[in-house]
Amino acid sequence: MAKLLIIYHSQTGNTEEMAQAVAKGARSVAGAQVTLKKALDATADDLLACDAVAFGSPTNFGYMSGALKDFFDRTLVACRGKVAEKPFAAFANTGMGMRNALDEIESIGGMFELKKVAEGILATGKASPEILGELRELGKKLATG
Ligand SMILES: Cc1cc2nc3c(=O)[nH]c(=O)nc-3n(C[C@H](O)[C@H](O)[C@H](O)COP(=O)(O)O)c2cc1C
Repeated sequence: MAKLLIIYHSQTGNTEEMAQAVAKGARSVAGAQVTLKKALDATADDLLACDAVAFGSPTNFGYMSGALKDFFDRTLVACRGKVAEKPFAAFANTGMGMRNALDEIESIGGMFELKKVAEGILATGKASPEILGELRELGKKLATG
């Protein structure tokens, strides 16, 4: 009975649609509890309480959004040593096909000692039906444990 937390930031809706697809896939798993949180509202307690987590962000100025970075900045000290080996995966949106945000989220996941359990998913602008399908599968995988 996995509790999946999805933390994301989105300004114009593209990453939000990706987050919703992860949630939809996760909710198809019997017994899964799925929580979607905007990065600015998410707390260390949210991360401590979940069984698995997905992080999503647009690519802004060649990096993840300030909002998701703010979440990581606010929560590292409280979570250090307490979330080791917790499964995580990343997804990101980009205007120009840049992988930077995805790679940076995965790198920070490593600093939290989270365990990457799936390849990151990148979409450029509005996610295609194929990518939304991959995101639903990702949600299922994370919620299955
Ligand atoms: C302030 C700002 C900076 C951006 N910088 C980049 C960038 O460096 N590289 C890139 O590929 N896209 C960049 N973009 C485009 C966004 O990543 C893209 O529009 C994305 O789809 C936005 O996701 P959202 O709809 O979830 O907000 C930038 C957009 C904004 C608003």
